[in-house]
Amino acid sequence: MLKKKSFEKYDKISKYILDIIGQKVDTAIILGTGLGKLLDEMEEKIEINYQDIPDFLLSTVKSHPGKFIYGKLSGKYVLCMAGRFHYYEGYDEAELATPIYVLKLLGVKTLILTNAAGAVNYNLHPGDICVVNDHINFAGISPTRGNNLEEFGERFYPIDNLYDKNLISIAEQAALEIGLILHQGVYFYTVGPFFETPSEIRAIRLLGGDLVGMSTISESLTAGHCGIKVLCLSLATNYSSDRIENMDGSEVEKIAEEASDDFKKLIMKILEKI
Ligand code: HPA
Repeated sequence: MLKKKSFEKYDKISKYILDIIGQKVDTAIILGTGLGKLLDEMEEKIEINYQDIPDFLLSTVKSHPGKFIYGKLSGKYVLCMAGRFHYYEGYDEAELATPIYVLKLLGVKTLILTNAAGAVNYNLHPGDICVVNDHINFAGISPTRGNNLEEFGERFYPIDNLYDKNLISIAEQAALEIGLILHQGVYFYTVGPFFETPSEIRAIRLLGGDLVGMSTISESLTAGHCGIKVLCLSLATNYSSDRIENMDGSEVEKIAEEASDDFKKLIMKILEKI
């Protein structure tokens, strides 16, 4: 049985964080694999380990350290999550909603999601940065399944505008100003933790997916439920499995590390504009 969502629990977690950071926050950023370089630029940092937060989730992914980092980036206070939670780790869907409802209670209005993804579209190559303009969730995971908390949103809610058009334009403008080519694409979600078969990738391409990945949509779907605007930036870290032999994920962290300077500059520029 799916875990029950509890407003009291989210409230308690958000108060714990608020007590430490001292004020509400407008913007949050979830950092994907290898994209943590942004944190080097942060001033007045305050760190909160997930494991110290009562009733919060623990990250089980080795490369994700698992903490909130609050501080100043491009002159704005933002709250970053270094380490996110994935369905493939074994969390149930209701648990995956937790961080986002907590962000909502902390005052977050804009959420920047970042991720590493496989390049499905033939025009995308490892190292390319894309702004996600939509997703396809044929795995059918739903973080808002189960009891609905009216405090956050209605039982049924539209997701035709999940990836905010205004934020996409801001990202494009920011990319232009720093001389970075920013692609756009549709993120196709897969449960993982296995990568895809070549036949699956051909099907994903036919269906309109440009990038493929195992994260992000539980966050954007929950944000959509509680009225947080979402900007999602994906880094293509590898060709998907019908374009290479033996897709084993070994490229993901290396490419993410190489692109992380560009990513950092892009996010800093975007923050100046929101
Ligand atoms: N598939 C799924 N998830 C991923 C990939 C991929 O090719 N690359 C990085 N995350």
